[in-house]
Parts: sequence; C-alpha cells; structure tokens
Amino acid sequence: MSTQLDNKYRKLLQGVNTLAITCNQWGDTGKGKFVDLIAHEWADINARGTGGANAGHTIHLGKKEYVFHLVPSAILHDGLGKINIIGSGVAFDPGVIHHELQLLQKAFLGYNHLMFSKDAKLVLPQHLVLDRAREKLAAGKIGTTGRGIGPVYSDYINRRGLTLNDILNTDVFARKLQVNLQEKVPTLKAFDPQIIKDIMHHDHLHCGRFWSASYMFDIDAIIETYQRYASEFKDMIRDTDEFLRSAVGRKKILLEGAQGLLLSISKGSYPYVTASDCSKAGLADGVGLRESNIDLTLGIVKFPYMTRVGGGPFPTELGGAKSAQWCADPHVNKKYELTTHGTSSVNTGDEFEQGIGIRMKGNEYGATTGRARRTGWIDLPLLRYAIRQNGRDVILTKPDVLDECEVIRVCVAYEYQGEPYQLGERFLRKGTRLEVASMDYEVLKNCKPVFRDFPGWMTSIREIRSFDQLPEKLKNIIIFTENNTGMKTRIVSVGADRDDTIVVTE
Ligand code: IMP
Repeated sequence: MSTQLDNKYRKLLQGVNTLAITCNQWGDTGKGKFVDLIAHEWADINARGTGGANAGHTIHLGKKEYVFHLVPSAILHDGLGKINIIGSGVAFDPGVIHHELQLLQKAFLGYNHLMFSKDAKLVLPQHLVLDRAREKLAAGKIGTTGRGIGPVYSDYINRRGLTLNDILNTDVFARKLQVNLQEKVPTLKAFDPQIIKDIMHHDHLHCGRFWSASYMFDIDAIIETYQRYASEFKDMIRDTDEFLRSAVGRKKILLEGAQGLLLSISKGSYPYVTASDCSKAGLADGVGLRESNIDLTLGIVKFPYMTRVGGGPFPTELGGAKSAQWCADPHVNKKYELTTHGTSSVNTGDEFEQGIGIRMKGNEYGATTGRARRTGWIDLPLLRYAIRQNGRDVILTKPDVLDECEVIRVCVAYEYQGEPYQLGERFLRKGTRLEVASMDYEVLKNCKPVFRDFPGWMTSIREIRSFDQLPEKLKNIIIFTENNTGMKTRIVSVGADRDDTIVVTE
C-alpha cells in the first residue's frame, strides 16, 4: 500500500475511535474490501452486529479469493493481534462457524483473537428447515438465502429463542430446545413430508443427521452436535457487549455492517427485507453500543449502477419484471449466463440484455447462493432515503464496471403510477412525483423512475489514485449526485484490489 494512501486514510480517520461501515443499498456493495483494508491499517477491534450466514464477504488477497459468511472480514488480520467479535445481534450458526474455522486452519490463518457474544442468537436446525420450507410455498416468497435468518429472529422476538450461551449448559439447552421444537413441528407437519425430508437431507443440516421419521427432529442428535460445538467454542464465548462498551474511546473499533439499509427489518423495503436491523443504529445495538458511540459512518453505495438479490421492488431495474423473473430462476448463475448470453454487454440496446451485460462485467453473482443479482441504475430517491438513516458520508464502489458504458442513467425522482393511495398525510395519485423513496411496498412497487442521462467516461479508471484525475464525465455524475442528495464522497473504489482506491480528503 502506498504511503500517500496511508496518509489520506489517516486524515479521513483523524479523531475517529469508533467507525461503522454499512451499506446504503440492498447489500453486496463491496463492504468486505473496505472492512478488510481499514481493519488492517487502523482498527484494534472489528465487530459484526447484525445478520448471520446470509451475508457473504469476498476478500481478495493477492491472487487468492476468500469467501466468509459469518466470521468478521478482518479475521485475515488476526495474526496482527486484532480482536474480532461476533456480536450479540448476530444470528450465530455454529455449523457455519465450525466450517469457517476449518477453512482458516487449512489456509494457515490463525484465529486466536476471535470472540463470540454469549447473547448471539442461536441458529438451530429447525430454523433452517422452516426458512427453506416457507420459501417452497409459492405465496409469500421473499427469496431468502435459506440460512434460517427469519425464523431465528422471530423466535427471539417471540421470546422462544436460544442464545449461544445456552450451549454451555446442556440441561438448559435441552429444555429450551424441546419448547422451541414443540411449536414448530405442527407447522412443519402441514408441509409435504417429502419436502421437509429433502430439506433435512441437505448438506447444511448434516445430510439428514437431525432427521427422525417418528418426530421429524432427532433431538438427541441435535443435543450431541451442539455439545460438540460447546467444547469447540467455549473459550471464545464471552460478554462481548461489555467488552466493547469498555473499549469505546480507548481502542479503535470498526463495526462491520451486514446486508444493507434497504434490507433492514425496520428501515428497509418491507416485507422484502432480512430479519435484522442493518441500519447504523441496528449495527450499534447489535454490538451493545449506542448510535452516539459511532464517530464516523461510511455508507457504501454501488455507483452508478446498483443491484438487488431476491424478491421485492427495484424501480430502476434493467429489464424490469423480466429481469426479476429471470434472476429468480435458481438455474440462472454465472456459468449459465455466460453460455446463453455471452454476447450481452454494458451497451446492449435491449435493457434486459444490458442488465445481463452489467451483471457479467461486474461479476454480480451471490457469494452465498451463487444467484444472479438483479441490476439497475443508481437511484437518487433511494439514496436520499438511505442518507437520512445512515448519514451522508459514503464510499462509492464499482464505477470501473461501467468504464465502457456509453450512456449512464441516473434516476433523479419517481413518478407514482399506482391506484390512488393514502400514504400517511400524503395522498398519491398517478403522476405524483416523489423525491425521496418510500419503503411502503404499495408505493415502491408502483414507482416509475424519472431518468437523467449522462455521457459515459469511456476510459479505464483503475490506475487513477486521486479524485481530481478521474474523468470529468464521471466526476460530473458524482458531483451531480452529491448536489442532489446531500451525500459526501469520502472514498471511490476503482477496482477490486486494495490499492484500487481513492480517498477524497477535502
Ligand atoms: P434472509 O436474510 O436470508 O432472510 O433473506 C431476506 C432477503 O434479504 C432476501 O431478498 C435475500 O436475498 C436478502 N439478503 C440477505 N442477505 C443478503 C446479503 O448479504 N446480500 C444481499 N442480499 C441479502
């Protein structure tokens, strides 16, 4: 890493003790690269507070690519004595952690300084089964990652959840497990038994180890497996909320967001959201801190295109409903698109094909599920909304994907196209203009983007290391967006590698 870059980071982070890195869109905006970089250069402690194994962080180190779902991205720097924490707000799947720790061992990467919150929400086999079974129903499909996230957090809210601490006390664990299962078995019995059996024979559920023909769940097998996890993890299970509270102001703390603001259970495009609050406030809460403990929040914005995985409204989606349907097909992955649509590019005239072209160029396929991410243009009404929740300081990622794109479209506002609709104190009718996105499903799904077109910059930006040297045409789009949303660009990422980064200091 160049000295110049170091100095720029130092300036940006001057006076900051607690830094949050969140996503201002629907996730997959490239948080991993920055969490990894800032953790390496700056942080003493790195903590996750929301989500679970539904997240996927791809980290490039030299020629190697690492994908983690649950351990904090900064784990790669454990050897430098940094502390990595999985906080109390996280949905903790011990099976996934066990697997990731094995991966680290195989790669000769240590994990001596890893701590798990005793209060993390425990993922159990029934959560995975319920999540996957619900997604098999045609009605109410959210397009979840199948990692049990919704059922774990609903158990917590329903006061039926287990915490990681429970695995340390076998009797308590067995008692709570029985109560938790009692409620779920009748629900699961209403599904086609073959579907449940197939789900339970999936790798994620130890290929049927927890399956029982008589009761559906083999309780003894669950207890035995979780006891093994207890012996493996017992030294890592700690009161991390208290640890972090006492570190505020004394240590450099990096809070690593998961998913994105628009997927937040309380601030996102409900019901097409995940089940934790992935806003800045939710992230602080998920590690036992207050929002006011955060000195700086950097919200990531993929720019000037954006993506969404799973169902739900996406007003600027290239190819609209056709794209949403295409991406929902589980057979559509990178290999399939390369074979069937290999000639589509970022300039193809047909919007649906252009969307595929951008997806292939940006490698927009889920790290967790391999699913094709829906692609669309940058959306200022959504950005204005996100900035109100997470603050104005942003990191722009992946503009280099559109280096060869002739026309860049920016959605500056929405035109409401639905039936007359009362939205709080506002009455919406066909043609009503909206400057700030509403998260109300009835509204968002009926919003048509109003675009302003900009000429593309048509040159590679990968080698550029200062904002001033970026092509005028790209700067125009960034400055237009800043002036029209209030965002303040702090960092621009111009490529996948750590060094492909511009830190904006003025
Ligand atoms: P869940 O979190 O698995 O319940 O999925 C709920 C919604 O959030 C689905 O649309 C998922 O595709 C989406 N989602 C969950 N985690 C991520 C993520 O890390 N990146 C992008 N989308 C996600």
